[in-house]
Amino acid sequence: MNKNPDEEKISAAREAVKLILPNQVVGLGTGSTANFALQEIGILVKNGLSIKAVPTSVKTEQMARALNIPIIDINTIQSIDLTIDGADEFTTDLFLIKGGGGALLREKIVASMSKQEIIIADSSKKVDLLGNFKVPLEVIPFATAYVMQQIEKLEGRGQVRSKDEKKFVTDQGNHIIDVNFGKISDPVTLAEKLDHIVGLVCHGLFINLVDKIIMGTKDKTLVFTK
Ligand code: 5RP
Repeated sequence: MNKNPDEEKISAAREAVKLILPNQVVGLGTGSTANFALQEIGILVKNGLSIKAVPTSVKTEQMARALNIPIIDINTIQSIDLTIDGADEFTTDLFLIKGGGGALLREKIVASMSKQEIIIADSSKKVDLLGNFKVPLEVIPFATAYVMQQIEKLEGRGQVRSKDEKKFVTDQGNHIIDVNFGKISDPVTLAEKLDHIVGLVCHGLFINLVDKIIMGTKDKTLVFTK
């Protein structure tokens, strides 16, 4: 593994921003890797690229505004041309775990509206089977105990995420349960089961939402596609 994942993140981000065309609507991801893309997009905009951006979190929106990247209200558009986002884990069949930064719900909405969902990552994020990273579940606070019970039926061990000794609160005012399901041999079936739990607003398994993963390595970028 590269001792400096930032170099890998930057090279993946630089490759990804080359895919942006003038006048596109661009989804902006959340997290340290997506932030490198944001910086690159900021430079392109400063140099005259015209785009409109849809941020996936309040934090990303603040950063985008500071870089003078024009923002468009997601509720005024039909689709997003291209989104560049990060991942907590991915497999080469383009399944992901996302939500380490707590932005999974907006990230999944933006991915669902995107004609091209591009994931950028350093090489530590590539796994044979998902599951080392706990699967984040965004739950409405009223349903936390109920969702926890349903997760136990699926043999998951969940923990409510906290920050600064308080429950973590998402941009939508919800909580996150991080669940250890062990190694996930069948993410499609698990995702379907999670999709049916009432009160669980969004899970961090991204299935059939990704078009391309650009992974930085020590000396080059590798691309995984469908
Ligand atoms: C945020 C996410 C991020 O994309 C994910 O956590 C990866 O973050 P980083 O690039 O900092 O490793 O899903 O909700």
